[in-house]
Amino acid sequence: MAIRFGVVGLGMGYARAKLVRKTEGAELVAVCDINQERLQKAVNEFQCKGYSDFDQMLNDKDIDVVYVMTPSGMHLDFGEKAANAGKHVITTKPMEVTVSRCRRFIDACKKNKVNLIVDFEMRYHKDLQKLKYAIESGELGEIIFAEARCKWWRTQEYFDSTNWRGTWKYDGGGSAANQGIHVIDLLVWLCGDPKKVIASRYGVFAHNIETEDLTIAIIQLKNGNYGSIITTTNHHLDDEFGVSISFENGSISNLRGELKIKMKDGSEALKTEVPANLPGNAVEDMIRVLTKNEKPYISGYEGMRSIELLEKIYKKGKKFYKI
Ligand SMILES: NC(=O)c1ccc[n+]([C@@H]2O[C@H](COP(=O)([O-])OP(=O)(O)OC[C@H]3O[C@@H](n4cnc5c(N)ncnc54)[C@H](O)[C@@H]3O)[C@@H](O)[C@H]2O)c1
Repeated sequence: MAIRFGVVGLGMGYARAKLVRKTEGAELVAVCDINQERLQKAVNEFQCKGYSDFDQMLNDKDIDVVYVMTPSGMHLDFGEKAANAGKHVITTKPMEVTVSRCRRFIDACKKNKVNLIVDFEMRYHKDLQKLKYAIESGELGEIIFAEARCKWWRTQEYFDSTNWRGTWKYDGGGSAANQGIHVIDLLVWLCGDPKKVIASRYGVFAHNIETEDLTIAIIQLKNGNYGSIITTTNHHLDDEFGVSISFENGSISNLRGELKIKMKDGSEALKTEVPANLPGNAVEDMIRVLTKNEKPYISGYEGMRSIELLEKIYKKGKKFYKI
């Protein structure tokens, strides 16, 4: 029998509802949004049930999994309610906006014996999964320097079109918390949790927002070597997103799209084998967990790691503004 999903929040959630529909073994049972236009559009297109009241969706016995796609600082509120109703939960990134709210999220799912998966879509990319295995196997050797970069452009209209983007309470920050969290997550996943944040500066330069549109941090990696993180929504070229890492035996970068590899011996591929059955997205991940008794590929604990680092970056950070 198919695993039955309900999606709440139909901004990016509209695309995730589509993903549920096209994933084998999944069924989109319902969507939920307080925005009637978005709700009707999705109901008409997907021919599924529509709820404007989340509590009513939770009463729906046909739903096994709730996919939380609401503003970031509300993920816990929806996730906790879903867990209390006995539903398994997928939440989009970032998991939540503070470590303490992430912990509450994990605890609520544990207490109710439901599974929690955090949708960091980059971790499901096949080439990055191979890279992760290659790092763990020792093929690339020690990390010499690691860089995470998200240099994107966002218009003022992007922030003005909602009441939550660019706010501390609901966005959890600015370019680091919203856009950059993807690459911060990649960094901690591939390189391990850093020992410490050595320096951090953040500020707002090109937008009228409460948080930041540029963050720069220097970190000390788990192995004692150094790394850097740059996130911004001020980069008009909108063209750098990913990680670039120099290892003893080779270097990798996916800053401009596909993963590039160059080993010391000149080869451009990794040899490490990867298990064949890794999930390709969060929906597949949940289906594997529920039907094959697998552990989540991206658990709540995994989802929280980038927020732990983010909090340290902001805490260490000194604000700087345009001169
Ligand atoms: N690639 C990705 O993984 C990706 C991309 C974009 C956004 N996101 C994440 O998705 C989340 C939403 O971002 P967005 O850009 O879609 O925002 P959005 O504001 O466009 O959409 C959020 C939706 O939630 C709905 N909502 C709010 N309160 C509700 C309630 N009480 N009941 C039902 N619906 C409610 C809103 O009406 C809105 O339609 C954020 O956490 C963001 O970080 C992830």
